[in-house]
Amino acid sequence: MKNLGRSDANNNLETLLDMDKTALHKKNGVPAEPRKMMAGHGLEFKNLSYSVMKKQKKDGVWITKEAYLLNDISGQAIRGEVMAIMGPSGAGKSTFLDAIAGRIARGSLQGSVRIDGKPVTTSYMKMISSYVMQDDQLFPMLTVFETFMFAAEVRLPPSVSRAEKKKRVHELLHQLGLTV
Ligand SMILES: Nc1ncnc2c1ncn2[C@@H]1O[C@H](COP(=O)(O)OP(=O)(O)OP(=O)(O)O)[C@@H](O)[C@H]1O
Ligand SMILES: [Mg+2]
Repeated sequence: MKNLGRSDANNNLETLLDMDKTALHKKNGVPAEPRKMMAGHGLEFKNLSYSVMKKQKKDGVWITKEAYLLNDISGQAIRGEVMAIMGPSGAGKSTFLDAIAGRIARGSLQGSVRIDGKPVTTSYMKMISSYVMQDDQLFPMLTVFETFMFAAEVRLPPSVSRAEKKKRVHELLHQLGLTV
C-alpha cells in the first residue's frame, strides 16, 4: 500500500508530541532543552502510525486515498508525571489516545507501546488504566455516588460483595474530596 500524504498534511500531532524534536517553548529567549528519553521507563510509544482509507472528490471523480491520522509518533510519559496532549480539533488527540489504550485494531496500528520496557497487550492496558471517553458517557440523573456504584457493579467481579463495593466507593469519594 502506498503511503500517500504521510509526510505533509497529517503532521499536526507529531509536531506537538515528538520529544526528539526541539522544544518550542523558550525561557528568557533561550529555547528550552528537549527532555531526554529514558528508555525502559514509564509509558513509551514509538513510531506510531495509523491510516484510514478516505474517499474524496478530485476533479469531479471520487477517489480513495490513504490518509495518515497518526504519522510516526514517538514519546514518553514518565511515572508520576501528568501529560497533556494538546492540539487543534482534528489534530488526532483522541486517535492517539485510542492507539496507546489498545483501542485500535491490531494490524492497523504500526509502532510499539511499552510500559517499563515491556510491550503491553490490550487486556493489560485495560486492567491498569482508565479511559474516559471524550463524549459524556455519564447518566445525568445519577448522583456521583450512584455513578461510581454503577461503575463498580459493572467493572468489579461478582465475587466482590455489594457492601465491599459501597465501601470502596465511599473511600473513593473521600479521596476525591467529594464528601461533606
Ligand atoms: N475512523 C476514521 N476514519 C476516517 N477519519 C477519521 C477516523 N477517525 C478520525 N478521523 C479523522 O482523523 C482526524 C483526527 O480525529 P481525532 O478525533 O483524533 O481528533 P481530535 O484531535 O481528538 O479532535 P477534537 O479536539 O475535535 O476531539 C479528524 O480529521 C477525523 O475526522
Ligand atoms: Mg478528540
